[in-house]
Amino acid sequence: MVQAAKQNASYKTMHEASIADPIEFWSEQAKLIHWEKPFNQVLDYSNPPFSKWFEGGLTNLCYNAVDRHLAERGEQIALVAVSTETNQEKTYTFQELHTEVNRMAAILKTNGVNKGDRVLIYMPMIAEACFAMLACARIGAIHSVVFGGFASHSLAARIDDAQPKMIISAEAGIRMGKGVPYKPLLDEAIALAEFKPTKVLIVNRGLTPYTSVAERDLDYAAEREKNIAAQVAVEWVDATHPSYILYTSGTTGKPKGVQRDTGGYAVALTASMQHIFCGKPGETMFTTSDIGWVVGHSYIIYAPLLNGMATIMYEGTPLRPDAGIWWSLVEKYKVSVMFSAPTAVRVLKKQDPSFLTKYDLSSLRYLFLAGEPLDEPTANWIHEAINKPVVDNYWQTETGWPILAIQSGIETMPHKFGSPGLPSFGYNIKLLDDATGAELGADAKGVIAIEGPLPPGCMQTIWGDDARYVKTYWESIPGKLIYSTFDWGIKDSDGYFFILGRTDDVINVAGHRLGTREIEESLSSHPNLAEVAVVGIADQLKGQVAIGFAIPKDATQTTTLEAELMKTVDSQLGAVARPARVYIVNALPKTRSGKIVRRALQAVAEGRDPGDISTMEDQAVLMHIKEVIEQKRS
Ligand code: PRX
Repeated sequence: MVQAAKQNASYKTMHEASIADPIEFWSEQAKLIHWEKPFNQVLDYSNPPFSKWFEGGLTNLCYNAVDRHLAERGEQIALVAVSTETNQEKTYTFQELHTEVNRMAAILKTNGVNKGDRVLIYMPMIAEACFAMLACARIGAIHSVVFGGFASHSLAARIDDAQPKMIISAEAGIRMGKGVPYKPLLDEAIALAEFKPTKVLIVNRGLTPYTSVAERDLDYAAEREKNIAAQVAVEWVDATHPSYILYTSGTTGKPKGVQRDTGGYAVALTASMQHIFCGKPGETMFTTSDIGWVVGHSYIIYAPLLNGMATIMYEGTPLRPDAGIWWSLVEKYKVSVMFSAPTAVRVLKKQDPSFLTKYDLSSLRYLFLAGEPLDEPTANWIHEAINKPVVDNYWQTETGWPILAIQSGIETMPHKFGSPGLPSFGYNIKLLDDATGAELGADAKGVIAIEGPLPPGCMQTIWGDDARYVKTYWESIPGKLIYSTFDWGIKDSDGYFFILGRTDDVINVAGHRLGTREIEESLSSHPNLAEVAVVGIADQLKGQVAIGFAIPKDATQTTTLEAELMKTVDSQLGAVARPARVYIVNALPKTRSGKIVRRALQAVAEGRDPGDISTMEDQAVLMHIKEVIEQKRS
C-alpha cells in the first residue's frame, strides 16, 4: 500500500501544510487510492462554498474497496457477518465478496438500475446490505441507506426526496430473538410516498411471513440464482460523481439528504484510516454502529475495505448471549481497531467487568468512541476494563470522517479528558462568536466553524437543493461565508477543543441524531393535540432523551393520551424517535412574540433553574409545568 504521509511528519507540520497548501497536501494523499484516469485538477473552488475535489479523475469506490485487493489478498477475510440474534456467523473473503457484489450488481442492472439512478437500502445488519452498497458503487448508482429502525413516514419522506428506482430490503430484522417485520412498513411507506419505485428487492430471511406485490417485488435468492455467474464491469465515474445520499436531521422537520462524492471520499477515508484509526491492511476492524448511520457507512463498510482490512457487521445487542460477546469477537477475529459509541459503553458499564477481561484482547490497539460527548467516568471505566487507549473523536454525518481527533498515525499525541483532540488534517477550524462572527481566543465559548474549502470526503451539497445547503450551513454566522457545525465548543491554550452541545434543536439520543422538530410534527398529527414542544434532556445512560410537552385540544380526554402519542411516533418515525415522556400541560412558556422558550422547558425538565426568563410572557406557566413533572414523578 502506498504511504502518502510524509515520513516523520509531526502533527503540527502536517496540519499546517494541509491548510497552507491543500492542493499539494491532497494530491499526495490521493496516491492512496486507484485512479483509472488521473484527475485534471486537485481542487476547483471557483464557486464557493462548493468544492470539487479531483475533478476529471476516474475512479470507483467498489473497485478500490474490493477488486483492488484481489491479487494480493483475495483469500483473506473481507467481511464477517455475525448475528447473535439468528446465531449465524458468515465470513467472506475478498474474492467471495467480489462474487456476491457482482451478483448484486447484475440484479440491479438487469432490473434497469444504471449510473446515477438512486437505490434506497432499508435493511438490517446482514451481509446483503454490504453487497447492496458496494454493488451500487460498482455501477455508479447512488445509494441511500435508511436506518432500519425508522418507520413508514420517515421512509416515505426519503423515498420522495431521493426518488429511488429500486428499493432493497429484507422482510424482517430481529431483536431479542423475535422477528421485527420490515416489509409491511416498507409497503406502507411506498403507499404514502408520491414517488413509486419500479422494483423492490426482498432478502427473505425466513423470519416473518409477508406478502409480495406482483410485478414490483423481487425475491433476492431467485434473482441471485439467475445471476450466479455474472461479472459486471466497474463503471468508472468522475471523482465528483455522487456515491450516496444519507439523510440526517436538522432544525426543520424535513431531513437533509447529505450528498457525498466518490473520489474525495475514498481518499479521505483511506487517509483517515492511516493517520487517525491506524488500521493496517490484513487486520480487522470492528465498528459496532449500524449501516444506517454515517459511522456505519464510513467505518463499517468503506474505510476498512478501502484499506484492505476485514470488517465485522454485527446484528444484535452488546449483552446477548452475555456482555462478553463483542470482546469474544475481538479475540476470535484478532480485531486491531474497534469503534463504538459512549452509550454502548455505558450499557456495558452496568455489567461485570470480568466479561471484558475474559478474552484475549492482545490484538486490539485502540477503542475509538464518537457520536456524543464522552464523559470522564465512562472513558475511565472502559480504559481500566480493557487497558487500551480510548480515543474520542468528533464529527458529523456532513463531514463523513473526523473533524477533531487524536491522530496517532501521525505522531503520539497526549490526550486530554473531555476533549476529542485537535483539528484533523485538512480542517481549518475556527471558533466564532455566534452574534458577531468574530474569532474567539482560548477558553471562550463559541460556535465551531470550518473555513472553506471543506476537505475531501465532506458533503458536496444537500441532495437536490444547493440553495438550502448554502443557506443552512454557510450563512448562519453573520458576515462570513463559513461552514457551521452547529456545535458549541471551546478551545484551550494548547489548541484542544471541547464540545459543549448543539446550537440548534438537534438532539443526540444514544448516539442517534434526531431533530426535535420532526418529533413535534409527528406528535402534532394526533387529532387531540393543539400544540407541542419537544426538547432533549440529559440522561445518564443515553446521553440525552426527548421529552414532549403537549397541550390537548380536549382536556377531558387525556387518560390514554401519552400512550397514544408514543404510538403515533412509533408508527410514523420509529421507536428510535419515541420521547421518553410526553407531559400533558395546559400552556407552554412563550416569549411575547409567541416563540416557545425551549431552554426554559429543558431546564425545568432537568430540574435546573431556568435562568433569565424576563422575556417570557407568562412566568406562571413554568410553575405549572414544574408541577406536572413533579406529579408524574411522585
Ligand atoms: O453534536 C455533535 C455530536 O453529534 C453530532 C453529529 O452527529 P451525526 O451526524 O450522527 O454524526 C456522528 C458522527 C460520529 C455533532 O454535531 N458529536 C459527534 N461526535 C461527538 C459529538 N459530541 C461530542 N463529542 C463527540 N466526540
